[in-house]
Amino acid sequence: MGKGLFITFEGIDGSGKSTQSRALAKVLADQGHDIVLTREPGGSPGAEEIRQLVLTGDPDRWSAETEILLFTASRRDHLEKTIEPALAAGKTVICDRFADSTRVYQGATRGDLRHTVDQLHTLMIGREPDLTFIIDMDPATALNRGLARKSGEDRFEDFGLGFQETLRHGFLALARAHPERCVLIDGNRDADAIATEIALQAAARL
Ligand code: ADP
Ligand code: TYD
Repeated sequence: MGKGLFITFEGIDGSGKSTQSRALAKVLADQGHDIVLTREPGGSPGAEEIRQLVLTGDPDRWSAETEILLFTASRRDHLEKTIEPALAAGKTVICDRFADSTRVYQGATRGDLRHTVDQLHTLMIGREPDLTFIIDMDPATALNRGLARKSGEDRFEDFGLGFQETLRHGFLALARAHPERCVLIDGNRDADAIATEIALQAAARL
């Protein structure tokens, strides 16, 4: 069986990644593609347990260094148990966040840990998506949307607006550095308009 496409969604908290991953999964499934829709941190039973450790509790609960280890452990389990088996079976995997989130959240916000993130990625993950949609939008609007959900998983939202602005610049820099796989999407529009553009971009690659 042929290899499926690995598509990821990235962006700041509340930028619409979950909404757009679901919309793309539906469009592609309706076209007859075999789709696995998943997310990080999480996406496998072990990785979902780690999710609870990193997303709840005090913002200072973990240092950035410890977070890199926890997110990478979670990603490794997700890759082994969910992503690689699906791709090997010819399915298309749509993942809400992946390694770019670690590059930006842990690599570029609390000290310059990007080199550490990259080393650990090479050692333990070693896979990049075929296509990454980076949803870019105004951090204040996105933060209000995210906090309005009151999900109980707001540890990163609780770092505040300045943190979200740093993240936004981190994602823009990644999009510039990897034009071969990253497509920048303007998230300051209604959800249907964004979904239409994403579906067109994905169709061009499939
Ligand atoms: P993320 O996964 O990036 O945190 P979500 O898709 O969960 O973002 O969206 C956060 C909130 O904003 C949700 O309540 C969602 O319904 C809403 N939302 C998503 N996209 C839009 C949009 N384009 N315009 C207005 N609200 C949106
Ligand atoms: P998610 O549930 O996608 O949050 P949101 O819906 O608010 O965008 O992701 C949870 C949080 O985990 C989010 O604030 C980003 C953070 N995160 C990292 O810090 N590093 C990572 O490697 C990943 C995958 C997520």
